[in-house]
Amino acid sequence: MSGSLPPNAGRRLKVAVLVSGGGSNLQALLDACADPAFPAEIVLVLSNKAEAGGLDRARRAGVAAVTVSHRDFADRATFEAAMQEVLRAHGVEFICLAGFMRVLTAGFVEQWNGRMLNIHPSLLPAFKGLHTHAQALAAGVRFHGCTVHFVKPALDDGPIVVQASVPVLPDDDEDSLAARVLTAEHRIYPLALKLVASGDAVIDGNVVRLRKTAADAAIQINPSDE
Ligand code: GRF
Repeated sequence: MSGSLPPNAGRRLKVAVLVSGGGSNLQALLDACADPAFPAEIVLVLSNKAEAGGLDRARRAGVAAVTVSHRDFADRATFEAAMQEVLRAHGVEFICLAGFMRVLTAGFVEQWNGRMLNIHPSLLPAFKGLHTHAQALAAGVRFHGCTVHFVKPALDDGPIVVQASVPVLPDDDEDSLAARVLTAEHRIYPLALKLVASGDAVIDGNVVRLRKTAADAAIQINPSDE
């Protein structure tokens, strides 16, 4: 399952979205994939938490919703082996992590090398890890944002597909800043998946190159408006 994406010749890429929580980014992806012309379709939503709101969003959209609880397994490797089995059973070709709160082993990440995206609520490489909005406020940056990137074994690392910046306003607190960033997340995750699934965004070493045909999309790649 590792390596670069196969040419999809007009076929829609079969995607699993992995969630642990409410799934508002999942919803943005489901909404985009509802268009039959979108180059990807969501065939599975997988969660490590049975109570994740994202599972309800999947069911409402008529998408398979499966829980694999990490608590049922002795270690990460057996938990991930169970997830792999579910992914294989659903014919999944590509993974989007959307608020999936388990650290994945290097072995799992390598198996999905070039076939797994994550969304992170900061302008990477700034502010990796948790509490990114608090980190941004503490650093006093004037711009903050979000990043969709391919997943590498190192946390919050990997070739960047799309970023969006938002201003940090004088009265911002963590909540107001998070809400502004989340709005941008919902815009860029579907855009990133579209660029990758259509073959317009291709990994080249540590970076992602955009094909010329993606030039129109490129204009939105760093949207600064709301
Ligand atoms: C988002 O902020 C995303 O960037 C981060 O986890 C959060 C998930 O939110 N990785 P939601 O479940 O998509 O609403």
